[in-house]
Amino acid sequence: MSRWEPFDVSDSHPDPFVQFATWYAEGSPLLPEPQAVSLSTASRAGRVSSRMVLLRHVGDGTFGWYTNYDSHKGHDLEENPQAALLWWCEPLGRQIRIEGHVARATTDESDAYFASRGRGHQIGAHASWQSRVLSSREELMTRVEEVTQRYKGHEIPRPENWGGYRLTPHVIEFWQQRDDRLHDRVVYERDGYSWRRERRQP
Ligand SMILES: Cc1cc2nc3c(=O)[nH]c(=O)nc-3n(C[C@H](O)[C@H](O)[C@H](O)COP(=O)(O)O)c2cc1C
Repeated sequence: MSRWEPFDVSDSHPDPFVQFATWYAEGSPLLPEPQAVSLSTASRAGRVSSRMVLLRHVGDGTFGWYTNYDSHKGHDLEENPQAALLWWCEPLGRQIRIEGHVARATTDESDAYFASRGRGHQIGAHASWQSRVLSSREELMTRVEEVTQRYKGHEIPRPENWGGYRLTPHVIEFWQQRDDRLHDRVVYERDGYSWRRERRQP
């Protein structure tokens, strides 16, 4: 008997965010880092790059993460606000692809998230000029020490170049592994204010 559950359009919820919540709830207890997703961006010239980020926000019709706005991905997103997220749940043989348009989170959202992080993370966000060349680990640790001293006894403010992004999807695909590579794929495409669902060949 196959260990994989069948997944057809009739098994899927009309709202892809509800479907995402179901698969995420089923998969996350089985994963060491359930929020880990691959984020792909592209420069204006179409040069693509991918990296992992933590999916810290799902709701209000968006998927979100936090990062440095001056990073490689930040520069890509300022030039070209299209991106793709990918979640893989090996124990359940499930992949979720999300593609859409990205905008910055509000400063209130970014402030609230930054305030919820531990002090070490907050110091790290100030000390690391993400994606820029670093001559040595010592250079980084010197900046960590400077930031630690600067804010000793004070709250650490969010760096202006650090905050959230929110992706509003136009396509979400749910892929269920099946035997003999005859996988099940259900793709949602935005159609005005609603979603069109269809099966795709594996
Ligand atoms: C599991 C995992 C989660 C990560 N989460 C984040 C994250 O939420 N935000 C972030 O800026 N970088 C995160 N990183 C580091 C990124 O993958 C990447 O190295 C960094 O953001 C710089 O990417 P860039 O130079 O392409 O902008 C994570 C890495 C891993 C392996």
